[in-house]
Amino acid sequence: MAGLLAGELVNTVLEDTLVAESVALRGTAVAAARGVADQLRRAFRTQMQVDFKRDMHDIVTVHDKAAEKSIVARILDEVPDSVIIGEEGGTRGEGRVTWYIDPIDGTSNFARGIALWCVSIAAAIDTRVVAGVVYDPVADNLFSADLTGAWRNDQPLHAVASPVEAGATIVSSFPAAIDVKMFGDDALQAHRLLLENFQAVRNLGSGALNLAHVAAGWADATMGFATSPWDVAAGILILHQAGGRYRGYVQGDPYTPLQHAEDYFAVGRDAQYPTLESVIETLSRTRRSVD
Ligand code: IPD
Ligand code: CA
Ligand code: CA
Repeated sequence: MAGLLAGELVNTVLEDTLVAESVALRGTAVAAARGVADQLRRAFRTQMQVDFKRDMHDIVTVHDKAAEKSIVARILDEVPDSVIIGEEGGTRGEGRVTWYIDPIDGTSNFARGIALWCVSIAAAIDTRVVAGVVYDPVADNLFSADLTGAWRNDQPLHAVASPVEAGATIVSSFPAAIDVKMFGDDALQAHRLLLENFQAVRNLGSGALNLAHVAAGWADATMGFATSPWDVAAGILILHQAGGRYRGYVQGDPYTPLQHAEDYFAVGRDAQYPTLESVIETLSRTRRSVD
């Protein structure tokens, strides 16, 4: 009994230490995101060169690369013991804290002039995401979370949602070109099912902002396929701390950390959406990898 109590005490101290660390890491993530806001706001709606990555739908601008560089420099300055997993610069470094960085999530919107894009930064310790920020510098909406809570600017977030599909709005990027490539007509059939069963289905073009919308109670659900961890890591924690639910689907190792699951859906508090769950489950099971 005494041993058990001692063990429990150690666990409590460890958890308290992690909570304190998560608060500090949120501070670093927030500073790094705010630190690139001016340069991105200035670049937005200016003429910019676009390069292509996977295909014509997958673009990158000089501003994505510059912002990631600034974010990484700031993080490594404050937390040298870090691994960086960035969309533009890949994985580098060694350390206790792993950072997932998407310098601009919603690059197609950013490059075209549509004000739906954000900076997304998350920090994980032992694969557990403990701090995250999703920052929309145009609207000045800073969504953030650590192990003590979730906020938009300094207001606590509550993921209120319709309990049923008929009253719910989905925000997602589905179906994107890659979904049609992966699933063929099944993607269009799935889209039709969602349109028929939900009150509204919207395509915003930023996975991180979609999750933030659900966390804020501004939308009821989101979903995605073939996602990358920098798209969702921060949003998962923000949604979870706001009371929402994120379900990831993995193809291989069942112990894959949630932020590395390729397919997912996410809903607000107390929401049960059978059509959404069945669409993701079915498509995820039949998904094909694409080049
Ligand atoms: C993309 C956006 C989009 C999602 C894609 C992402 P990017 O990120 O989040 O909504 O459907 O899977 O790659 O390229 O704009 O950073
Ligand atoms: Ca992204
Ligand atoms: Ca990006």
